[in-house]
Amino acid sequence: MRVAVACDHAGYELKELIKQRLYDYDHEVVDFGTNSTAPCDYPDVGRPAAEAVARGNCDYAVLICGTGVGMSIVANKVPGVYAALCTSGVQAEYSRRHNNANVLVLAGRLTGTVEAEDILDRWLNAKFEGGRHARRIGKIVNGR
Ligand code: RB5
Repeated sequence: MRVAVACDHAGYELKELIKQRLYDYDHEVVDFGTNSTAPCDYPDVGRPAAEAVARGNCDYAVLICGTGVGMSIVANKVPGVYAALCTSGVQAEYSRRHNNANVLVLAGRLTGTVEAEDILDRWLNAKFEGGRHARRIGKIVNGR
């Protein structure tokens, strides 16, 4: 798979770890930055990464800021993006199985490396179940 990654300064260290794990699993990584811990604004990197998913240039994206909240808001403003802020493996798994999330958001300042690896692994391996969950997503898209 082709996975976009993006972070602000507060997510830089975790982004590098996530990238390495994606490479270990033979995924292609498209890195939208940032590439240091120098302060930057999360919309500048999060929006282009989310748009890459919406346009079909990437299959998924992993976005990271300090709390994950800013990146979630940015990504979910992009039509066609379903971004899930996950702080546990079970949230990550069900965000794929039930919500068909195509963007995973992590909290660089709140989530430890072992937890982040578990979140990523469960997110990558879970599949959308469709059925009643597809009906519910249709109601998100159509407003009813
Ligand atoms: C940066 O200080 C911080 O505000 C940002 O990483 C993020 O947590 C915003 O939601």
